Amino acid sequence: MNATLPLSPQVFAILSGLIEERTGIRYSEADRELLAERVSPRAIERGFDSLLDYYYCLRYDADAGAELALLVDSLVVNETYFFREADALRVVRDLVLAPQIEAGRRPRLWSAACSTGEEPLTQAMLLDAEGLLTRTELVASDISARALERARRGFYRGRALRALPDGVIGRWLFPEDDGVRAASRLLQAVDYRRVNLLDCAAVEALGTFDVILCRNALIYFGDERIKRVVATLSARLAPNGCLVIGVAESLLRFDTALACQEHRGVFVYRKTEP
Ligand SMILES: C[S@@+](CC[C@H](N)C(=O)[O-])C[C@H]1O[C@@H](n2cnc3c(N)ncnc32)[C@H](O)[C@@H]1O
Repeated sequence: MNATLPLSPQVFAILSGLIEERTGIRYSEADRELLAERVSPRAIERGFDSLLDYYYCLRYDADAGAELALLVDSLVVNETYFFREADALRVVRDLVLAPQIEAGRRPRLWSAACSTGEEPLTQAMLLDAEGLLTRTELVASDISARALERARRGFYRGRALRALPDGVIGRWLFPEDDGVRAASRLLQAVDYRRVNLLDCAAVEALGTFDVILCRNALIYFGDERIKRVVATLSARLAPNGCLVIGVAESLLRFDTALACQEHRGVFVYRKTEP
């Protein structure tokens, strides 16, 4: 069993503040015990027996950036699965990507918090089903190096497969040991990168996209960070491009530069042309 180091309200305040500043992930006072449980194993592994000392290491040590990257792997919620909220992925394919292809362009889609890869691979399957996969550029990123390592491996089992429709196994996913392996042409179609959504320069370097999926990630951020990230993502959208967030999320309480539109029961945030 992992030991949990004590986390006083004062140390919680500075530690959670640092984590929010660097990752956007917000912990409220009610999450103090949860944060202590998640941070303690890393602190202990680094040889600390106090979370205040570990905070100083994260804030001031020469390798603070590398340590924070390792800590992030223990903090993030990587929950995802194939065909999660798949109606939205069909809508962006039909509404944005297919018309671009018909017009002779090669559209770009970015899965901006892709976790272990089920979301971009589902989008790849839906495009492939219509013969559009090789004509679309797919970029997928996450802050978690561990999640991306699993995404690149392309091996899945258990809960990741809980919503698979008929016809996927044997066409895009192939049984292997106690799970499935994604077809290599799907894996090759996705360009995986490690990107922190709060890092404006890294986001800008990705270029412009016709579709940005940022689903079930903003839910862990405070309102100020959501506004900042949405502004950064909006700037990366091509004219008429779409931002898609999770079904449990909404941007309606924020003043964004995007128009909320409903298509076949799915809400998308669109960069309408001036
Ligand atoms: C619950 S998963 C969502 C996965 C997928 N989009 C879906 O809807 O199933 C949330 C992901 O957001 C990522 N994330 C959290 N903070 C982030 C940040 N600042 N930059 C990039 N990714 C982040 C986490 O690492 C995690 O993989």
